[in-house]
Amino acid sequence: MKDKLVIFDTTLRDGEQSPGASMNREEKVRIAKALERLRVDVIEAGFPAASPGDFEAVQAIAATIEESGVCGLARALDSDIDRAGEALKAAKRPRIHTFIATSPIHMQHKLRMNAEQVVERAVAAVTRARKYTDDVEFSPEDAGRSEEDFLCRIIEAVIAAGATTINIPDTVGYSLPHEFGALIGRLRERISNSDKAVFSVHCHNDLGLAVANSLSAVLSGARQVECTINGLGERAGNAALEEVVMALRTRQDAFPCEVTVNAREIVPCSKLVSSITGFPVQPNKAIVGANAFAHESGIHQDGVLKSRETYEIMRAEDVGWSANRMVLGKHSGRNAFRTRMRELGVEFESEEMLNEVFARFKQLADKKHEIFDEDLQALISEQIFEAEAERVRLISLHVCADTGEIPRAHVVLKVDGVEKTGDAEGSGVVDATFKAIEAQLKTGTTLLLYSVNNITSGTDSQGEVTVRLEKGGRVVNGQGADTDIVIASAKAYVNAVNKLLSPVRRKHPQAADV
Ligand code: KIV
Ligand code: ZN
Repeated sequence: MKDKLVIFDTTLRDGEQSPGASMNREEKVRIAKALERLRVDVIEAGFPAASPGDFEAVQAIAATIEESGVCGLARALDSDIDRAGEALKAAKRPRIHTFIATSPIHMQHKLRMNAEQVVERAVAAVTRARKYTDDVEFSPEDAGRSEEDFLCRIIEAVIAAGATTINIPDTVGYSLPHEFGALIGRLRERISNSDKAVFSVHCHNDLGLAVANSLSAVLSGARQVECTINGLGERAGNAALEEVVMALRTRQDAFPCEVTVNAREIVPCSKLVSSITGFPVQPNKAIVGANAFAHESGIHQDGVLKSRETYEIMRAEDVGWSANRMVLGKHSGRNAFRTRMRELGVEFESEEMLNEVFARFKQLADKKHEIFDEDLQALISEQIFEAEAERVRLISLHVCADTGEIPRAHVVLKVDGVEKTGDAEGSGVVDATFKAIEAQLKTGTTLLLYSVNNITSGTDSQGEVTVRLEKGGRVVNGQGADTDIVIASAKAYVNAVNKLLSPVRRKHPQAADV
């Protein structure tokens, strides 16, 4: 019997720390359900002390998820731990993850605390967390740059205080695989009570080594890996869940442990996270990129046709490619629609909401013959945006783009219930549309990113547009989908503006205000 490797997903916590990736409660619950279908062992649902919205999101996930454990992050502060304990009350398998920085650079410059005080705070935090649950994880933040003797001391103390998982983060992505693996091996050997806890790793990808570092740690005895869908996360992101899982699966000969993830849900989950966060997946991304299983060269195609193993080490269908292709069409009825939505983890709160989304589905099916799962997910996202308290709403858009003429746009918006119109010219119709919206709203934002992806293939596919706006240091992503990419662009811009207008103030868990 091989050991089990615990897959701890932190898409909803560290992943959400990517600039612009913030999600609302409904979006988080949808992703949590997708993670549960993927059968991840633990879902880190958020940082409840960050804001009332974050608290409510963790609470909603705790109440919804049945199979996976649900975890809340807390700094080593009584107030954070109490918030996390409270948010997780309804969880079937609650876990509190508490952390404090242990590297000289963080202790001196960020915390302004000495080693003694840090150990004291860590032990107190774990002891308090144990009042809420038996499942307590402790992380010495910036472990990759911490002194080993100090790591041994603090880890021994928190295990004695009741920590059941010890997570070693390479917070700044500085470690190399051979040294990080060796560090995990030495910590397990040197710490007298190390057998009382599961050792975990949490690697950042600043040098592109997050997955390599995580796998090296597994070879040295780590039995939990923290990762995110599509490698989302702070700065260059975290270890990508799909890469860790498929490396373990594909190279069972090399690893002494196994994962129980349902790999067929990897691609659907990746697409959902990409569409909700507005972070596109690069085509050559391992496992989940559009080209990950595409063979371009004639020699490769010929080889694969003769025998798949010539150029393929995994089967596309085993990670969820081509599963759930064409699902519905314009003749599909309400029941088929509701059933497929249920299979995608979407339950309608009322018949009225079902009817509204079904009506949109029919409109889309009139424009586009085949409706795929990705189209259904986009319909739901749109419904959620509109159900939120939106201050700005797109009523209509008219664009003009004759050859040799200057492109023009005319938009009608409803702003706080009042109808406004705007006209503008631009270098193209999208540019003109954004200028026409800006002429009315005068938000003074900077456009950081504009990207268009087709949700499925074909010219009748819906275009999914992401618009990233920045104002006063705050970055938001807006999304919009439509078979017409200019309309999708306008929807995305308006969605981003609505997010900027909402007065959300959140604490960052790793900020200096401990
Ligand atoms: O990167 C990090 O150190 C973290 C901790 C909070 C575990 O995200
Ligand atoms: Zn992190």
